[in-house]
Amino acid sequence: AQRKLIDEVLSLFQLTPEHLVNVKNKMRAEMEYGLKKETQPLATVKMLPTYVCAMPDGTEKGNYLALDLGGTNFRVLLVKIRSGRRSVRMYNKIFAIPLEIMQGMGEELFDHIVHCIADFLDYMGIKGASRLPLGFTFSFPCKQTGLDKGTLVEWTKGFKATDCEGEDVVDMLREAIKRRNEFELDIVAVVNDTVGTMMTCGYEDPDCEIGLIAGTGSNMCYMEEMKNIELVEGNEGKMCINTEWGGFGDNGCLDEIRTQYDTEVDEGSLNPGKQRYEKMTSGMYLGEIVRQILIDLTKHGLLFRGQISERLRTRGIFETKFLSQIESDGLALLQVRRILQQLGLDSTCEDSIVVKEVCGAVSRRAAQLCGAGLAAIVEKRREDRNLEHLKITVGVDGTLYKLHPHFSRILRETVKELAPQCDVTFMLSEDGSGKGAALITAVAKRLHLKKD
Ligand code: BG6
Ligand code: GLC
Repeated sequence: AQRKLIDEVLSLFQLTPEHLVNVKNKMRAEMEYGLKKETQPLATVKMLPTYVCAMPDGTEKGNYLALDLGGTNFRVLLVKIRSGRRSVRMYNKIFAIPLEIMQGMGEELFDHIVHCIADFLDYMGIKGASRLPLGFTFSFPCKQTGLDKGTLVEWTKGFKATDCEGEDVVDMLREAIKRRNEFELDIVAVVNDTVGTMMTCGYEDPDCEIGLIAGTGSNMCYMEEMKNIELVEGNEGKMCINTEWGGFGDNGCLDEIRTQYDTEVDEGSLNPGKQRYEKMTSGMYLGEIVRQILIDLTKHGLLFRGQISERLRTRGIFETKFLSQIESDGLALLQVRRILQQLGLDSTCEDSIVVKEVCGAVSRRAAQLCGAGLAAIVEKRREDRNLEHLKITVGVDGTLYKLHPHFSRILRETVKELAPQCDVTFMLSEDGSGKGAALITAVAKRLHLKKD
């Protein structure tokens, strides 16, 4: 009887092929809404124009600063690009952003960022140097009206600083630099991490027209025909669209497959009701879903001797790295127990089997859902280009994709099943989005020079 209850809970996370086709079709429909003027205000997949139109051609050169804010690590980087050989050298430093700054006053967040830039410039010995061009990877939804103009639509993931939503993040950064009055920078571009990732991979593979992040958050960008983007003037060429697909499902269209555990995770988050697809597919939330299931199973006396410990009540204990460890193949159950012990959870051997199964069900569903989303975009690109067969590369980054032992494989398998006419290559972005932001800045400078 106990086993039956556990199986019932696990089965809530099993998606049929019909479910997945449905998700793919709905994602496609939401994307089309997001591109059209009339339906855009209601679309849950925002489809934000990025003003990134050109890929690097190898003639870019120079020294650039980059900021990379919004993933696991906040970094400041110096990126040296040499033309011709497509060689890039990078120097970077990781800085902490304390919780009280992530969720404190907006001005203080930007002051902190500028403080870190100052520290980095000192560290590199280039504080007094010329006014360096800067690319700002800012991994949140921004309404852009130009490459260097981006209004924060709303915070996602773990950020919630005041007085930033509805404000231009480039202006906020410029003002903070002015307040500090120690150095000058030329802020050229604000870039989503998906876009940075696509650029980094596009530097090496011209077939790369999609950027995917499966990390703390979940998002995707791709190159769209200008003529399909109703919100931007002009019909020539292409522009990169930041889909912000994390918001998919916010109108209830995923309710059929959402479980009570997803609802609980959503309600306990910083942005209830928002980013529902992201909350089913990304690293910041998968561990939380697992925790909710474990609490429920414990309540029913099926785990941890029916005792809900303080630890189990604590939000955020299951980080991506723990899920990844627990699900590693060949890991003896004793080791799973040891990981649980590290997390402060005393388990029996049977407990550890159940925990591993729960983790597997949750991450498998995440990878499948993410694959269904990706299938929607590659199919769209194939149809838009009137091709029988499409060959395309996806640049990918993010801790979930990189660290988890099964996520990437299940994602790839799902895309293959749901988009059989597309030949999709996944290319891991090795150096993060900062490099991409520097490349975008370099391309902008090159095009600008040509114009002058
Ligand atoms: C990194 C990028 O490589 O990937 C970040 O440089 C990005 O900007 C990140 O946000 C996504 O992964 P995670 O797992 O750190 O959120
Ligand atoms: C969140 C952000 C999005 C970002 C993604 C991955 O979904 O809203 O902008 O790309 O996380 O970091």
